[in-house]
Amino acid sequence: MTFTVEETGRELVLDASGHATLMQVAVEADVPGIVGECGGEMTCGTCHVHVESTPAGYTAARSHDEEDMLEVVDAPAPGSRLACQLPVTPAVAGLRLRVPAPS
Ligand code: FES
Repeated sequence: MTFTVEETGRELVLDASGHATLMQVAVEADVPGIVGECGGEMTCGTCHVHVESTPAGYTAARSHDEEDMLEVVDAPAPGSRLACQLPVTPAVAGLRLRVPAPS
């Protein structure tokens, strides 16, 4: 899976194995702009990403609580998600996420 850091244009191709969520993958790899401050409790918004491309077979529906949190993040977009709510599954390999630049 790939994270693109909008602020620098840097692209990081990461192995998600061994992690439960994409927030954990990003924090472990020190992806700039992903902090995961609340540990996945959907209260901080510091794992906000834009989904650029979703591989076939990868699904993760937004919950009501996630949608509420996404209403207050910087740079919201139609593909906005909380990376802590994106599970690592066998289908995650081709997923492409963008970390929005701070406003
Ligand atoms: S880690 Fe806090 S909302 Fe995702």
